[in-house]
Amino acid sequence: MQVIKIGVLGLGTVGSGVVRLLRDHQNKISSITGCKLEIKTIMVHDLNKKRDVDLSGIKLTNQVDDLVNDPEIKIVVEVMGTVEIAKDYVERLLNADKHIITANKDLIATYGSELTELARENGCDLFYEASVAGGIPILRTIVNSFAADRIIEVKGIVNGTTNYILTQMSQHQVSFAAALQKAQELGFAEADPTNDIEGIDAAYKMIILTYFAFGMNISLEQVKVNGITRVKLADIQQAKKLGYNIKLLGIAKLINDRVDVSVGPVLVPEDQPLAAVQNENNAVLVTGAAVGETMFYGPGAGELPTANSVLSDIIAVTKDIVLKTTGSRFNDYRRDLKQAQPID
Ligand code: NDP
Ligand code: HSE
Repeated sequence: MQVIKIGVLGLGTVGSGVVRLLRDHQNKISSITGCKLEIKTIMVHDLNKKRDVDLSGIKLTNQVDDLVNDPEIKIVVEVMGTVEIAKDYVERLLNADKHIITANKDLIATYGSELTELARENGCDLFYEASVAGGIPILRTIVNSFAADRIIEVKGIVNGTTNYILTQMSQHQVSFAAALQKAQELGFAEADPTNDIEGIDAAYKMIILTYFAFGMNISLEQVKVNGITRVKLADIQQAKKLGYNIKLLGIAKLINDRVDVSVGPVLVPEDQPLAAVQNENNAVLVTGAAVGETMFYGPGAGELPTANSVLSDIIAVTKDIVLKTTGSRFNDYRRDLKQAQPID
């Protein structure tokens, strides 16, 4: 069986999840792709940090060149964050013909077009399902399932940290600071949570969604952004008395062939589905002219949900590699998948 070697940049919340899921589901993934996927090298910042994930057979490095210059590594997963450093590394990796998978919405919202062009020039894939709404496969859904429709609006809760904070404040009267600290401990928040609470993380995701839904490249300056730092416990309680939940919503709406994109706290009537989305969960409503309103719900952040989206990209890239090298699709999922037996 063909072995495909993978490099990873970053071994924090998401990187650890990728290592875990790939180990746990090795056989199933092989049966889907026809390949054995092995993580060969992981780049981290601090080589001496204690890691609570099984790294047997994996080399840790703090030199990106160990991945760039390794011809065995075909796919690199970028889950370290940052914008400029990540861009530099991703460019070098694409120029070395590595397929790239990233969860980094800051990077894609800022340099997505440029990097996509570079990937295309080098015949590489650049996938980033995990960058929007964590565990919800929303990007592929828009690409595949709305291809024959005209999207009119995309709106929803696309930041897990702020939804977690608002839920904790609303349901348990937890203070903003304590709820944020807990979101950080649970691995939902960014390394610097400013982008979460100021609405910028959600704005980056709306930029990516706007591209997927409307084919339009916009910059952060074109998004009206408000975060939740000015939302007080008293506001949340008053809203509840009136039958509303306060939610941080991202909205991208087509108005006369122009798209209006905003992020901000909104009073959502309690009987609306978005009002019921709690904690780190996200929900994205996509309205198409043909299909009407659809809603996609699930965990928006966290180790394993996000890693699962990264793995879905790894599998997609691997299938592309197999198709290119063998000229045929490997699709043996049903024959080799013997995970469970029917109940008698
Ligand atoms: P963490 O902060 O938990 O981990 C970051 C990792 O990257 C660490 O292992 C760190 O090394 C390494 N790293 C950071 N900077 C450098 C550098 N300059 N050189 C080498 N290594 C570096 O981040 P997350 O796992 O939470 O997030 C990673 C990415 O995924 C981000 O882009 C984030 O926005 C995105 N994301 C995160 C989600 C989540 O739920 N956490 C969900 C969806 C997307 P060391 O361990 O040595 O410090
Ligand atoms: N910090 C982000 C969030 C991680 O809370 O939604 C997922 O993108």
